[in-house]
Amino acid sequence: MRTALLLAPLLAAGCLTGDPDNGKSTFQYQCAGCHGADGSGGLQIGGVADTGGGVSEAGVSANLKERLPELTDDRVLDVLWHGKGAMPGQFSEDDSAALDVLAYLRTDF
Ligand code: HEC
Repeated sequence: MRTALLLAPLLAAGCLTGDPDNGKSTFQYQCAGCHGADGSGGLQIGGVADTGGGVSEAGVSANLKERLPELTDDRVLDVLWHGKGAMPGQFSEDDSAALDVLAYLRTDF
């Protein structure tokens, strides 16, 4: 909540377009099952078990804490829309929920 208050001026200035609070609920509901509640992995999908550091045996990383700083906003949105590897696309391109999740990832991660 406090974070949201601090972010209000940023949102008003148009620096962020999504709502991080909405994004947080969506993340818990839609992403945490694969990425862990705090985004640090915990992936167990399709026989590719997470090895603890968030990097699977196949060499892919579902550890968002590690990956996010390396990814541009455009890249994250592309993954949210179209998926990557074992991750299916999560939102259609006209769904503002993707922007909310992006805002959450950029503020709380
Ligand atoms: C079915 C499991 C699953 C769900 C649900 C899922 N992901 Fe993923 N995600 C993955 C896997 C597996 C990878 C690693 C893919 C790879 O690198 O091949 C990944 C990778 C990513 C990446 C990094 C992409 C990159 O270029 O390295 C981001 C960002 C991401 N997920 C965000 C999300 C968000 C946000 C949600 C919820 C809206 C979500 N994911 C839902 C499985 C999932």
